[in-house]
Amino acid sequence: MQTAFDYDITIIGSGAAGLTLALTLPTHFRITLLSKGNLSTGSSYYAQGGIAAVLNDCEDDNEKHIHDTLVAGSGLCHCDTVQHIIKHGKQAIEWLINQGVPFTRNNTQHNTYPYHLTQEGGHSARRIIHAADATGRAISDTLINKVKNAPNIKVLEHHVAVDLITRKATDSPSQCLGVYALNTVTGNVITLKSGYTVLATGGASKAYLFTSNADGASGDGIAMAWRAGCRVANMEFNQFHPTCLYHPNAKSFLISEAVRGEGGKLLRPDGTRFMPEYDHRAELAPRDIVARAIDHEMKRLGADCLYLDISHQSAEFILSHFPTIYQRCLGYGIDITQQPIPVVPAAHYTCGGIVVDLEGRTDIQHLYSIGESTCTGLHGANRLASNSLLECLVSAQTAARAIETSFKQRDTCSAIIPDWDDSQVIDADENVVIAHNWDELRRFMWDYVGIVRTTKRLHRAAHRISLLQSEIDEFYSNFRITGDLIELRNLALVSELIIRCALERKESRGLHYTLDYPFTSDKAKDTVLAPGTVLPL
Ligand code: FAD
Ligand code: SIN
Repeated sequence: MQTAFDYDITIIGSGAAGLTLALTLPTHFRITLLSKGNLSTGSSYYAQGGIAAVLNDCEDDNEKHIHDTLVAGSGLCHCDTVQHIIKHGKQAIEWLINQGVPFTRNNTQHNTYPYHLTQEGGHSARRIIHAADATGRAISDTLINKVKNAPNIKVLEHHVAVDLITRKATDSPSQCLGVYALNTVTGNVITLKSGYTVLATGGASKAYLFTSNADGASGDGIAMAWRAGCRVANMEFNQFHPTCLYHPNAKSFLISEAVRGEGGKLLRPDGTRFMPEYDHRAELAPRDIVARAIDHEMKRLGADCLYLDISHQSAEFILSHFPTIYQRCLGYGIDITQQPIPVVPAAHYTCGGIVVDLEGRTDIQHLYSIGESTCTGLHGANRLASNSLLECLVSAQTAARAIETSFKQRDTCSAIIPDWDDSQVIDADENVVIAHNWDELRRFMWDYVGIVRTTKRLHRAAHRISLLQSEIDEFYSNFRITGDLIELRNLALVSELIIRCALERKESRGLHYTLDYPFTSDKAKDTVLAPGTVLPL
């Protein structure tokens, strides 16, 4: 059986970033696109609210969007990145419209823009284009259909990338030659040799017990890049979405910020509003502020959840704007046209990630990264709502141009890459170890590295992560790999990076709030970690 393959470009990840890149690269490239599940696995498919971009020039402009992004990012955004992404927003949306994405049309707003624009926290204008409350599904379905019909793109579903293959010649930077990937259906590990490799593997919010993310958000790309020698930055800024559905049977279901954008009010169990006491923007303050306010109220009142009420809107409005949320809540016996929705905050988005330049280049030659796996500087210390899909699209299109240009000038590599060797390992006899460690990790990350931190809690987490990692390493060296083991190993590494970054930041800024350093220092500085320079925890 053939286990080695050769492509021009290997894209790991079929979310908004990976799909856009695959479809934007010139069609003469032989591309392979990997997904650890089917092509709709990942956060993109579940995106609800929409994509932020300046589309209605009569009522909005790029400067306002840039300003809102910088305010949300609490002084840590990189201005060149913010300008680049926002300036190319309209073009990216037009590309999606041309691909056939069925965005919601504007029937009600009194302006000339043909699509409905909604509002979310931290935005000073209505600028979120959306497909009702299932924007991600509309984008994914459209782009997946195109990818499946593209003759130059080979799709490999149910393939989990395990590690990057790199070489280092004396006096020259490391170069990426491809990746090893586990076929989770057959159990075989294949070798994918490629001219360029792109990590579009999404975020790491599965490190937390409560999350809006689907299974699979285990930070694999960030972990692989770190092991291969790339710098990683700002991992302490894990965004907690203020409103996930609270119900014993509801797993990871988000209640879109657009519900607040359309007038939804946050309530205590006694029905009183509290957000105006925390911020003059009330329910439309940036996410870090709203999530912390909810956390504080829940702890103060000893409440299991708070409530989000949109019932002031007509049933017709709710059903047309939030059909998915309406149906899902109704399935749990909550009629959102009549009743408030029980909500809690949950881990939602990884603002930090692999350090890349504006074109997606990492520290390793021929290795790029795009989307949530990266730290481009767009989000700073707190991402503005709906700026993530925007970043995925613009970064993918920018990287496509850069890869096309540099592909012509690249050194071709004739190195023989050894196949994956699992002759020294056996099948694991106690998979309960994986399940146990997975649960333990996610619980202590939630308790000790969550919305409000202290140095003592971070040290507790650091101690536990070291113990877990030594157990996981032992397991990894002795037993045949599985999808679960790969994810657990990556999740443990990414959690270590989150803890390290959090311990380095001796201030509170954006999403990182610590009781030991409650103030924001005058000078904003990224937390950048480089492999080989960190001390044991
Ligand atoms: P993802 O869409 O997460 O895709 C990652 C891909 O990588 C998947 O295909 C996965 O299979 C693959 N992968 C990962 N590891 C491996 C591996 N080891 N081997 C092979 N494949 C691998 N943002 C907005 O801007 N607007 C919104 O309205 C919005 N709503 C959201 C709602 C929810 C519920 C969630 C969870 C997020 C939301 N976000 C939103 C955030 C946004 O959806 C994500 O940041 C964005 O979709 C990330 O896209 P991506 O392409 O980088 O990664
Ligand atoms: C939401 O719909 O609230 C999610 C938007 C985002 O994460 O940007």
